[in-house]
Amino acid sequence: MKDQTIDPTDTRVYFICGVSGCGKSTVGRALSKKIDLPFFDGDDFHPKENVAKMASGQPLDDKDRKRWLTAINKLISQSEDGLIVACSALKEKYRAQLSEDITKKIHWIFLNGDFDLIYNRMISRIDHFMGPNLLQSQFDILEIPNYAIECDIKYSVEKIVQNIRIQTLQMKKQLGLIGLGVMGKSLARNFADKGISLSLYNRFVKGSEDEIAKNFIESYPVLDTAEGHEDLQEFVQSLKTPRTVFLMISAGAAVDDTIEKLIPLLDKGDLIIDGGNSHYKLTQERNDKLSAHGIYFIGTGVSGGEEGALKGPSIMPGGEPEAYAICKDALEAIAAKDINGGSCCGYIGKGGAGHFVKMVHNGMEYAEMQFLAEIYGLLRYSAGYDTDFIANLFETWTKTDLNSYLLEITIEVLRKKEDDIHLVDIILDKAGNKGTGSWTTIAACELGVPVNTLTAALFARYQSAFKEERQSAEKLYGKQFNKREIDLTSLADAYKVARIINHHQGIQLIYAASESYNWNIDMPEVARIWTNGCIIRSELMEDLKVKLKEEPILLKHATYVNIVNNGMESLRKVCSQAILSGSAIPCLNSALTYVETYINEQSTANIIQGQRDYFGAHRYQRKDDPIGPSHHTIWN
Ligand code: 6PG
Repeated sequence: MKDQTIDPTDTRVYFICGVSGCGKSTVGRALSKKIDLPFFDGDDFHPKENVAKMASGQPLDDKDRKRWLTAINKLISQSEDGLIVACSALKEKYRAQLSEDITKKIHWIFLNGDFDLIYNRMISRIDHFMGPNLLQSQFDILEIPNYAIECDIKYSVEKIVQNIRIQTLQMKKQLGLIGLGVMGKSLARNFADKGISLSLYNRFVKGSEDEIAKNFIESYPVLDTAEGHEDLQEFVQSLKTPRTVFLMISAGAAVDDTIEKLIPLLDKGDLIIDGGNSHYKLTQERNDKLSAHGIYFIGTGVSGGEEGALKGPSIMPGGEPEAYAICKDALEAIAAKDINGGSCCGYIGKGGAGHFVKMVHNGMEYAEMQFLAEIYGLLRYSAGYDTDFIANLFETWTKTDLNSYLLEITIEVLRKKEDDIHLVDIILDKAGNKGTGSWTTIAACELGVPVNTLTAALFARYQSAFKEERQSAEKLYGKQFNKREIDLTSLADAYKVARIINHHQGIQLIYAASESYNWNIDMPEVARIWTNGCIIRSELMEDLKVKLKEEPILLKHATYVNIVNNGMESLRKVCSQAILSGSAIPCLNSALTYVETYINEQSTANIIQGQRDYFGAHRYQRKDDPIGPSHHTIWN
């Protein structure tokens, strides 16, 4: 296979040196095939007299060699392109003659091997003018250059060529990646696997982060051609222009800090991509800041966790279209594929659009996870089923349109045992979070969009964190669980409806932001990008990518009106069974409350308006005067 890192502008000279019989021509030809530079065998440049002398068993002297070396030197100086030359170049003096007035960068590659090995190889070489009897004379004058790349000939030709490639790879890389945590490492391997040449940077922290990039590269053959750096300037200089630097570091101050350090090292037209879960408003600010320096910026959501990053994540890039054009091919290459083979990466919109969409993805993810946790709780504690039964029930759901990645992994989580005990029974019931869920709720509040299920899931995590308080409260109030039958068919239907409501809310939030920030987000396209690679990929998402084209408001699409209508009773039933059994189901309940509110024209907000006007003269509108001025009443 051709080397993916071939640089068509490579004008370097690769001298393959060493004593006769060490394999210079074989290695030179193999290298030539690999890097697409022409190969010249130095032997072909000997004057006739030299060949005759060697064939007669006499070694050449310096004078003989001078004409020969001059001819090779001429070949190199007359060539505009790079080339590979096999030439023994045994002495320093010869190498000086070979390289005289050559302005091209030269790599000296010295093939090293012991006398016996080479001697035996020469014996079996029948068609060469140089016999084994001259080998000793070559070793006698040999001066091994300490600046050469030394390759041991005991290895295969392939390995030697690979070694040469690694050591001479000063070709500019297509993409630089900063941050070799779990996600960064997986993404790097994914990029390399798609033939994208890489420079990898990881900061140096004495004792804890030491030669991370170098060690990582050495661990994976796919990274053979990658370069590792701990010096940011050298890292930047190793990149092709316009440079693309992908940040896979913790969201927050570290991103700003790295951007600050990169600005003086980058040029106008270069691109920084932030692939972490950054806040969309910071992405917008960073975009503005970098654009003042003429540097492009892409803030992209990358979903799929460690495995997704390695095998194909879902990617949601936002920024200027010109910025996306620079990295489009690379990002689309590493992304997961949808069922039609399309890339699960697509331009989302300007500024913070990509990170906004990823943030909402996470908010929806929280609710999708919480639904499953609540259903598990209901089955386990209210209905009294054991964990295996629940896993088996979920398994049956995977065969239906309820299937999703989160459902699948929940089954595995439920099945996992440690010493015959279900691991979930050992895991402390306090949920963590890294912030994106809360940002979603805050954004929804700012935009005035009700995202009840997303917020209920977030608050359920918060409440779970108060473990000690719950412990003492249980002592105060006593256990309040009442065993109760849970109708399993209704449960599946309720889950289906709740998920539709959750997706509806997340999508409404994206529409609102798109309108408010003029992002022009193509929601069916976002759904398509979410059909594979990401955490909320599901059968429902496959459906949504089509249905949202027909009707942008999910809960107004005839298909979902039908499903919700048919499933409402089940959701009501499950929620009431849960309530009566004393089981907390904040997210399922909030889905029910949301949809009850959504489908009822008459709300109770008239009372709120009356109250507001009573104590604060906040005024209200009248049904019988809808376009008239707002009204105020003297209530008492
Ligand atoms: C993903 C995930 C990923 C991560 C989130 C959520 O799409 O790959 O959402 O981004 O799991 O950061 O983390 P928390 O649950 O810790 O908030």
